[in-house]
Amino acid sequence: MRPLHKALALLVVLGGAGTGAAFYLTRPEPFSPDAMANLQGNAEQGAQVFRAGGCASCHMAPDAANAGLAVEMPGGIAFASEFGTFYAPNISPDPVQGIGGWSALDLANAMVRGVGRSGEHLYPAFPYASYRNTTLQDVADLYAYLLTLPPDPTPNRAHELSFPFNLRATLGFWKLLFVKDDWVVTGDLSEVEERGRYLAEGLGHCAECHTPRNILGGMERDAWLTGVPGLLGKSDVPGLTPDQLQWSEIDIAYYLRSGSTPDFDSVGGEMVDVVENFAHLSNDDRNAVAAYLKRVPARK
Ligand code: HEC
Ligand code: HEC
Repeated sequence: MRPLHKALALLVVLGGAGTGAAFYLTRPEPFSPDAMANLQGNAEQGAQVFRAGGCASCHMAPDAANAGLAVEMPGGIAFASEFGTFYAPNISPDPVQGIGGWSALDLANAMVRGVGRSGEHLYPAFPYASYRNTTLQDVADLYAYLLTLPPDPTPNRAHELSFPFNLRATLGFWKLLFVKDDWVVTGDLSEVEERGRYLAEGLGHCAECHTPRNILGGMERDAWLTGVPGLLGKSDVPGLTPDQLQWSEIDIAYYLRSGSTPDFDSVGGEMVDVVENFAHLSNDDRNAVAAYLKRVPARK
């Protein structure tokens, strides 16, 4: 069996068995209770983290028009996948339906460790496989910002998933296989390129769309940012490696601000929200992402 099929078989067997040492070994791993004890959050900084992270693109109301301007975060957008349909939850400060009762540490556990408030594994439709390396200072700032948004009483909608994917305990295996702590692009990076990597591989989660996935939905790190052909009526996601995207750094940074391409086309599809968010970031941050893209290995 190919390793992935093996992994899938393992997942199904263990999903059926329901208990055992394996689940113990892949149990959720939250931060220690004092991990954020000395951190003060700054809401203004947090707004930038929120935009870089694209939180509104998924958590705004399904009929909200502009991720860059949205402030209501009631959840409800549906994400169809081969495992079933996920619905984004309410992350407004509503104390009952939202995250008003959460601590900054609860947010860090969700975003960085993929662990929910009751200690359960979260689904990677929430891109924590990318947010994994977010600094706890950025989480503290983001938390301060989220609390300034209007509370919204919309209740969460339950995901509609098939067996065994409806069992959160099986997600421990997925995390073990596909959530990695190390960076993908390594080597002798400048400070600017490192900042770009932090934004692109991390908060901006570019790879969640621009990198092909294996049959279990894990990102293929050896085909990093090489693009995804449009399947099942979906449009193509272009590759961003230097051999594929032959734009200058200035062109890339300009696109992230304005949505205009060097050949006078304008951004479309799911990239629209990314640009609406990145337009609010600093020139330095957009330039850093552009510099990072030039360091990504060419397609094999
Ligand atoms: C690609 C879509 C997407 C993006 C981007 C995204 N989320 Fe989510 N988020 C989800 C989904 C789907 C879930 C549900 C996961 C689950 O049920 O296990 C979720 C869950 C959460 C939860 C847990 C809520 C709960 O009630 O358990 C929090 C908190 C959260 N997201 C905050 C954020 C923040 C903050 C950002 C930006 C940094 C963000 N999300 C970006 C899709 C997204
Ligand atoms: C939610 C999915 C998604 C995310 C996240 C995403 N992209 Fe995109 N991106 C797309 C799609 C889809 C297109 C094609 C847009 C079009 O058809 O106009 C695209 C297009 C682009 C292009 C234009 C390439 C070309 O050849 O026209 C660039 C550059 C780009 N993205 C960079 C990024 C960067 C940098 C990030 C992370 C900060 C990012 N993208 C995050 C989906 C995404």
